[in-house]
Amino acid sequence: MAGEMADNVVLVGFMGAGKSSVGRVLAKRLGRCLVETDDMITAKEGRSIPEIFAEKGEARFRALEEEALGLLALKRGEIIATGGGLPCHEGRPAALKALGTVVWLSGDFDTLYERALRAGERPMLAGRSRQDVEALYRTREPFYRAADITVDTTGIGPDQVAARVLAALGAREKAAR
Ligand code: S3P
Repeated sequence: MAGEMADNVVLVGFMGAGKSSVGRVLAKRLGRCLVETDDMITAKEGRSIPEIFAEKGEARFRALEEEALGLLALKRGEIIATGGGLPCHEGRPAALKALGTVVWLSGDFDTLYERALRAGERPMLAGRSRQDVEALYRTREPFYRAADITVDTTGIGPDQVAARVLAALGAREKAAR
């Protein structure tokens, strides 16, 4: 039952989906806090994500993500934005659902890729061709697809995406009553 869970809203999706910007809008609209797994990791390490990848490698970053996931069990009623790779391991979709309602911010690959290139430094894009990134996306898609709610972000901005997320959350709550 939705009401008995930890009641967070968990945003998942590929790089460029808008998890951070939509998360900020949702937090404001719902009067909740935004928790980002990438921020938990950078705060703990005292380093940026690109620095962690460069100095310690991807494997270390993934271990830090797992640690952050463990800490999320303490959260109640927050908006949680996950890094693009966090949901994409065996057992992760279920672990995220235990935290609350999981929302996949989807979009066509070209849109996501263009957005991801535009904003921020992303170590998973560095040294990868567009084809490599698309292949990565295809391997991740089934994990995102396990979400409770999917909102297509293609061609719309964070405010509109957030409005659609809120509508879908409302409909889901109504159906659960
Ligand atoms: C990653 C996505 C990033 C960040 C890290 C790894 C990935 O987050 O967690 O660079 O593997 O897709 P965003 O999805 O917010 O870009």
